[in-house]
Amino acid sequence: MQVPPLKRIYLALENWFNYSFGSWNPLYHLGTLTFFFFWIVLISGIYLFIFFHGSLDGAYASVDRITHAQWYAGGIMRSLHRYASDAAVGCILLHMFREFALDRHHGARWYSWFTGVPLLWMVVTLGITGYWLVWDKLAQYIAIGSAHLMDALPIFFGSMARNFLEGALSDRFFILIEFLHLLGQPMLLVFALWFHVRRLSNVSINPPRGLAIGSLLALLALSIVKPATSHEPADLTTVPQLLNLDWFYLNIYPLLDYWSAGQVWVLTIGITLLLMLLPWLPPRKAGPAAVVDLDYCDGCKQCFYDCPFDAISVQARSDGRAHEHEVTVEPALCAACGICVGACHSSNPFRMANKELKSGIDMPQFPVQALREKTKSCLAALEGKIKILVFGCEHGFDVTRLNSRETAGITLLCSGMLPPTLIEYALRNGADGVMVSGCRHADCYFRFGNRWMEQRLAGERPPVLRSRVDRRRITIQGGAETDQDVVEAALAQFRERLTGLVESEDDGKGEDR
Ligand code: HEM
Repeated sequence: MQVPPLKRIYLALENWFNYSFGSWNPLYHLGTLTFFFFWIVLISGIYLFIFFHGSLDGAYASVDRITHAQWYAGGIMRSLHRYASDAAVGCILLHMFREFALDRHHGARWYSWFTGVPLLWMVVTLGITGYWLVWDKLAQYIAIGSAHLMDALPIFFGSMARNFLEGALSDRFFILIEFLHLLGQPMLLVFALWFHVRRLSNVSINPPRGLAIGSLLALLALSIVKPATSHEPADLTTVPQLLNLDWFYLNIYPLLDYWSAGQVWVLTIGITLLLMLLPWLPPRKAGPAAVVDLDYCDGCKQCFYDCPFDAISVQARSDGRAHEHEVTVEPALCAACGICVGACHSSNPFRMANKELKSGIDMPQFPVQALREKTKSCLAALEGKIKILVFGCEHGFDVTRLNSRETAGITLLCSGMLPPTLIEYALRNGADGVMVSGCRHADCYFRFGNRWMEQRLAGERPPVLRSRVDRRRITIQGGAETDQDVVEAALAQFRERLTGLVESEDDGKGEDR
């Protein structure tokens, strides 16, 4: 299968970061890192606010005092405030690129993408009002550029630019910007962030501690080596010339040198709309949603706990059976990952041996009955000394590429779809070993599939793999589509281990005789 170029680029970058950072790979924690940078911005912002003078005459001098007279505290806080804001935008852009490149914005996931795009603008405009408060030449440049942009809108009709004629700018206007930056915009951002992750379950907002400490130290070092400073004070009688732009926040303004404000609006609104519409543009390939069969559901709620997209809800039993609860699936929220099937203890292949296997919750495109049949047929076709069955994930490395006389790959919707009992079933029905391959270790296309699977096999999450199953005959090796070498090497190592195991068992039998 052809890997799309953007995805290939992203996976190569991720691989490189994996070598450098291990489990702290920041690319796996971009959303949480952004939250962390917001914390730094908030704390440093509160400190700056204590010494900031919110008036036209006092603003520049107060920022100057904070920067120079108090360089060891206020100066560092100012730099942290600026660099953490830049880092947040950097993370947001990478987070966006990642979700797009890995195709995590289609289907039921449109919501997080769609609500993410305005977030980007909210953060950018928050930064713009921040730069404005310094009231230096850069602030003047932004203020005049913003006024031109506002005036192009049919509600202002040229009234904004008048504010920036000499002597026309009042403290009241400045206080309005201060209010927006300190209260209005942050509150809106918090509300929008809550909206952004509302349809996801088990959302973490804290990065791993080591990554957080490392990022803070890096920002601190940068703040000491290259402290944030101001330009000359604003002067409405002159036109600002050479400026040090912060390209993370202020990239729109230079366009005004070449285009009219109306054209800049058309460009930014056009890009924003295009970004927001991406979830509905091809390739779209969402499968049918999970289906509950109340005849086999006892309302244990495990699928509800395991669903990464909050698509399953629990309600009182409606069919008069003795169980207290039942679950329902909201099809519009279901990402068709099948993790609920792996969570359901009735997806047990040892049940209903001579009839069709039914589960309490199932995927119409790949029901557990078909999975059991596929497992049986693969096992029957295996030959040779060491027979290995490999369960893989549609979004990770294509395990059917491992197919040989002694190895058979079965592709699941997600590795989290695998019922642990199916591993036991395979081992009891001819497999010498079972390998499970999902997405790369710290990542999962469906957020938690490989994590839940690993926890189930380790006996930490129901339904657990029974303790009597020989763990030496099971291995887990995640891998992206481009990780053929890694998965093949793990398979070869596993085969070697199994060979040793089988030989020692054969020797044991020989000695017994
Ligand atoms: C302030 C900026 C943002 C923050 C703090 C943020 C944070 C987060 C967090 C914490 C998650 C949950 C990740 C998880 O637990 O799996 C998430 C998910 C997501 N975000 Fe953002 N995000 C931001 C902006 C954006 C933007 C600009 C986009 C794209 C336009 C975006 C697209 C997504 C998508 C598609 C998901 C769902 C991922 C999935 O279903 O696996 N986010 N975001």
